[in-house]
Amino acid sequence: MAAFTELVFSGVQPTGNLHLGNYLGAVKRFVEMQERDAQCLYCVVDMHAITVWQDPEALRGQIREVTAAFLAAGIDPKRSIVFNQSQVPQHAELAWVFNCVARLGWLNRMTQFKEKAGKDRENASIGLYDYPVLMAADILAYRATHVPVGEDQKQHLELTRDIAQKFNTDFGSSIAAHGHCDAFFPITEPLIGGPAARVMSLRDGTKKMSKSDPSDNARINLTDEADTIAQKIRRAKTDSDPLPSEVDGLKERPEADNLVGIYAALAGITREDVLRDFGGAQFSTFKPALADLAVTSLAPIAGEMRRLTADPGHIDAVLADGSNRAETIAAQTLDAVKDIVGFVRRGPSLQAVR
Ligand code: TRP
Repeated sequence: MAAFTELVFSGVQPTGNLHLGNYLGAVKRFVEMQERDAQCLYCVVDMHAITVWQDPEALRGQIREVTAAFLAAGIDPKRSIVFNQSQVPQHAELAWVFNCVARLGWLNRMTQFKEKAGKDRENASIGLYDYPVLMAADILAYRATHVPVGEDQKQHLELTRDIAQKFNTDFGSSIAAHGHCDAFFPITEPLIGGPAARVMSLRDGTKKMSKSDPSDNARINLTDEADTIAQKIRRAKTDSDPLPSEVDGLKERPEADNLVGIYAALAGITREDVLRDFGGAQFSTFKPALADLAVTSLAPIAGEMRRLTADPGHIDAVLADGSNRAETIAAQTLDAVKDIVGFVRRGPSLQAVR
């Protein structure tokens, strides 16, 4: 592998239609990361998906669709490594070791589990509870230094850092004895932010844009046609005041704030920049401008996704190639982890990896 200074890893679950929130909060930023001096790995986390029930045929289609979205948005599968989690067995293997490092008390604090399990916690899968440990394994199998994620993943990233730290400490002398540097696992930096770290529903600016919202008008799907995109923006909920000239004026105006944030993220500028141009404007002026911008940015992606998903053989070949390259890296980490933990391995020990 070429020597990059950063290793970027992120994952997207193949659990239904991707929408503008997934695009601005994740995929668009993945594309930008390719411009840094970094090896980027982008993973379709199908093993995370089955922590809640997935119809098998639908799941297969969704894995290919997320892959198509990655490619259509501009992730280059030659420069970056694009793959699906279940093809690289080291994720599950490392998750088991981490199950024995992470503490019950740490997982009991995870708010996403509480939300997703709801009231009937006894009936949630063990996988759902263990989800953050598998996520730590995803990241640390590559010893990733940077992870672009949405704000909702912050707590999971903190858990990843805690697991890395505890592993480094618990096995400190074994890590040294095997010739690795004491920070065997890096303390990964989350990359959270940008103007659209949280994209909200178009029908209610206080709720996150979500694939499970009963109203399709609440979200823009990545597969929506140009007319649909424009119509959803025209119908988006707003208040009746003109846009403010300062970002401060967006406080207490969740719908206005959301639309300005979407504009900024699509245009690659800040909210301040948007208000410099549109401060004082009515929504009757701003919405058509936003609709134009959204259509010119998103409609080509939808078109490219349709073209790509028509050829599943090509998508599967991209995933197979990415999985092979990912496994080459992850296998080195796992060899080292097995030595450090005290397992007896079949092959001769690899040299220190990095
Ligand atoms: N939990 C993440 C989400 O729902 C998806 C994910 C799984 C992930 N493994 C990851 C994100 C590793 C970043 C890194 O958005």
